[in-house]
Amino acid sequence: MSFKQGIPSTLPQGAPPVRHYLQFTDFTADEYAYLLARTAFIKAKFKRFEKHQPLVDRTLAMIFEKASTRTRVSFEAGMYQLGGSVVHLTTGDSQLGRSEPIEDSARVISRMTDIVMIRTFEQTKLERFAAHSRVPVINGLTNEFHPCQILADIFTYIEHRGPIQGKTVAWVGDGNNMANTWLQAAALLGFKLHVSTPSGYELDAKIAATAHGISSSSYQTYSNPMDACRGADLVTTDVWTSMGFEAENEVRRQAFEKWCVTEEMMAVAAPNALFMHCLPAHRGEEVQAEVIDGPQSVVWDEAENRMHVQKALMEYLLLGKLD
Ligand code: CP
Ligand code: NVA
Repeated sequence: MSFKQGIPSTLPQGAPPVRHYLQFTDFTADEYAYLLARTAFIKAKFKRFEKHQPLVDRTLAMIFEKASTRTRVSFEAGMYQLGGSVVHLTTGDSQLGRSEPIEDSARVISRMTDIVMIRTFEQTKLERFAAHSRVPVINGLTNEFHPCQILADIFTYIEHRGPIQGKTVAWVGDGNNMANTWLQAAALLGFKLHVSTPSGYELDAKIAATAHGISSSSYQTYSNPMDACRGADLVTTDVWTSMGFEAENEVRRQAFEKWCVTEEMMAVAAPNALFMHCLPAHRGEEVQAEVIDGPQSVVWDEAENRMHVQKALMEYLLLGKLD
């Protein structure tokens, strides 16, 4: 009788504890340095059409409780490129939508697969899954955080402009999952975050207070988005209404009217400033078409880089550091 290698139907004695990636603060600055360099290596091989298949025989379970284009395609294509395979689950087509406890789902799914990516609502739901999983769990977006996206954004910044340490990132718009994660990244990787949100849509105060290493110099708030953009090396924004908040759409439309990234805002940013948006975008709402489709925008590289950083992330969580 032979057992398939790599599937921990019984966890080996003395195995190192499973690592999860639930929020940006789950890794150290040194680990990010490794992951970013590894991403560059993996991306370069991909561009040369060279195979890179360290995860042959491994299976990724992707669980979506919210819609997705980029996260789905980047994880699925990425896992196949690494030599593995993928199982795709949604709330509607699994027992998750019929009240099976998340803890039981975690116990079952993690006995049959090697790594899990989840997109869901509350961060606590993701944490409950991870607490009952035998295999690494990755946050594919929650109401509170979107760490894979910020990892891709930072890789994209470095690719275009070099180190992000000491630079200034301007966040214009909702104090949402993206903004919270930028805040964690700024504190950890040593750049500054300028934040401008409409009143009532500020960053989550608890997250701001508990974000690892946050110091007063890591971020600064501005009531006028133009001031947040002044001198910034990167200007970034996101939808006015995140998934799960659709009932607030009309109220938000009015509250966010002035929080549209305009050419005027880009003009007061640093001369070589970049524009990023995690996508999907709404031209004429959170960003002018002239900006997102203009010369400073790197949104398509940003989207592609989701796949490359996540390949490095899955490889790291399953195999650790490789030469
Ligand atoms: N940026 C992002 O996560 O896109 P999707 O919602 O399409 O996955
Ligand atoms: N803040 C957005 C990001 C989408 C990728 C949302 O949560 O819907």
